[in-house]
Amino acid sequence: MRKPIIVGNWKMNKRSQDAMEFVKEVDSKLHDGADFGIAPAFTALWAAQNEAENLIVAAQNVHFEESGAFTGEVSIDMIKELGVKWVILGHSERRQYFNETDETVNKKVKACLANDITPIVCVGETLEEFEAGQTEAVVRRQTRDCLADLEGDVKHVVVAYEPVWAIGTGKSATTEIAQNTCALIRDELKNVLGEEAAQAIRIQYGGSVKPNNIAEYLSQPDVDGALVGGASLKVDSFLELVNAVK
Ligand code: 13P
Repeated sequence: MRKPIIVGNWKMNKRSQDAMEFVKEVDSKLHDGADFGIAPAFTALWAAQNEAENLIVAAQNVHFEESGAFTGEVSIDMIKELGVKWVILGHSERRQYFNETDETVNKKVKACLANDITPIVCVGETLEEFEAGQTEAVVRRQTRDCLADLEGDVKHVVVAYEPVWAIGTGKSATTEIAQNTCALIRDELKNVLGEEAAQAIRIQYGGSVKPNNIAEYLSQPDVDGALVGGASLKVDSFLELVNAVK
């Protein structure tokens, strides 16, 4: 059985003081039915990690090189120093605004696995691709290219299926679309990483997940969690998500 994993992607929201207060409120109110996490901005990682006992704390990006002349970037070693062991990679906003590609995501996944960091690797089609019927081709290609030639314990990798048209729009994918696409991703994981890893890897759905729809997504056989934006920002709403998956 795959344990569900719910992660709040805070994007460019919350200062470190807010993050600390959030974790203080939430950390003791989780339960064993799922893994729960948050992904604060770099500046709030330390405050969140320092306060967290049960919550997973994830970065929202990391560079693949160990060090060097990469102005504005943060290395794996730097997040590890804070005790952070998780990172979101290849989010569509990073692909759209910051030139992230399957190739750079692949380099980052490899660097993470070599350094005991668990990546949450995001894939998902744009509205244009969805309307052109290209969802399957796009998510298979992203899965294949982002996870090519991996070494190490690949079973811990998490994949997040986030259709770009469902992010921040309130237009969540139907549970049928979420299930079908997550099943395709799992099939591609089998091609790339083998049957055992494909069965072990958790696949999240993300895109307008709310307290009132999260349980329905998680009831689908190939949806093993959620990557949540807006609904993860407020303590009350986050705890509603937590309690909806009990
Ligand atoms: P929303 O839940 O706000 O649609 O954001 C989804 C997302 O991008 C999570 O990574």
